[in-house]
Amino acid sequence: MGEVYISGTGRYVPENIVTNDDLAKIVDTSDEWISSRSGIKERRITSGENTSDLAVKAAKNALENAGVSAEKVDLIIVATVTPDMFTPATACLVQSKLGAKKAAAFDINAACTGFIYGISVGTQFIKTGVYNHVLVIGAETLSKIVNWQDRSTCVLFGDGAGAVLLSSSKVRGVGSILIAADGEKGEVLQSHALPINNPYAPDNIEHPGHNHIVMDGREVFKFATSVMAESVEEILKRENLTMDDIQYVIPHQANVRIIDYAAKKLSADPSKFYVNLDKYGNTSSASIPIALDEINRKGLLSNGDKLIIVGFGGGLTNGAAFLQWQK
Ligand code: UT7
Repeated sequence: MGEVYISGTGRYVPENIVTNDDLAKIVDTSDEWISSRSGIKERRITSGENTSDLAVKAAKNALENAGVSAEKVDLIIVATVTPDMFTPATACLVQSKLGAKKAAAFDINAACTGFIYGISVGTQFIKTGVYNHVLVIGAETLSKIVNWQDRSTCVLFGDGAGAVLLSSSKVRGVGSILIAADGEKGEVLQSHALPINNPYAPDNIEHPGHNHIVMDGREVFKFATSVMAESVEEILKRENLTMDDIQYVIPHQANVRIIDYAAKKLSADPSKFYVNLDKYGNTSSASIPIALDEINRKGLLSNGDKLIIVGFGGGLTNGAAFLQWQK
């Protein structure tokens, strides 16, 4: 079995910044409420670019960072809950726009945990010697499915994309990976697809008539606070490490209170938990790769640094992975 490392990172967020004060003009909310309950100050909202546009820009960034051309990419995985279309997959649109002619391409949906699921899938293809370079992209235009009249959700989400290139390696850059799901709790965070509608179906099939995000925030909060710390503990156990060995935990950026809670439960130095949700809100599958790229480009990572990425989200799903940074 071969090894895998992250050879490049990239990100792209739309230019349009929407502050908490801007949102207070359209729903009954305040900067004070949003900041104190979530830590979010502003988010990027697309003024026209779709998910594949954001994904392509993040991917180009990652390829440049890796010094690998698009023609060398063997597989493109896009994790998203907000594809441009049902078909083609967003990954196929990205493949075409990048000119990654030989790459296979497909989307996966594990909501906010999607990027970690993508890392898991991409890593298998490289470890088994099938592929050398796999682009894993988390990209979302959540503004498409947010109900802009619902103050309990519209203040939380943002648009953006992050990407990594996974490449074959002699050194172990990607270690233990955990992915999990609890479908029985799925109803606490939903966005519906199309209703069944055909000449053979009754017309009273239940459907809310929209595809907005509907969320029981408190239930998601409870789930998140338990699985975040548990997932990190499991990765530490599998790697035979303690929190002292870890330079950064890069958590899914949903709520700073969830991140602080996890740090406390792990008795970890909170400054090891990278936070940028104040600038971007919750960008679902994009949040972890955006944060990873920020850390990388700020020059905060040295060769051999040990990182854990950890997330949770709709499904409900959760996951975590161990990374050892290779320059
Ligand atoms: O990627 C996964 C996605 N989801 C999450 O991570 C969500 C996890 N959950 C959370 O982050 C938190 O539960 C929220 C930030 C969503 C909410 O925080 P909370 O402390 O659980 O607030 P709450 O839902 O209990 O609401 C408290 C009050 C309610 O008013 P009453 O019933 O106490 O009078 C809400 O109606 O705050 C009210 N409220 C608002 N007030 C001003 C809800 N949204 C807003 C708002 N502005 N935007």
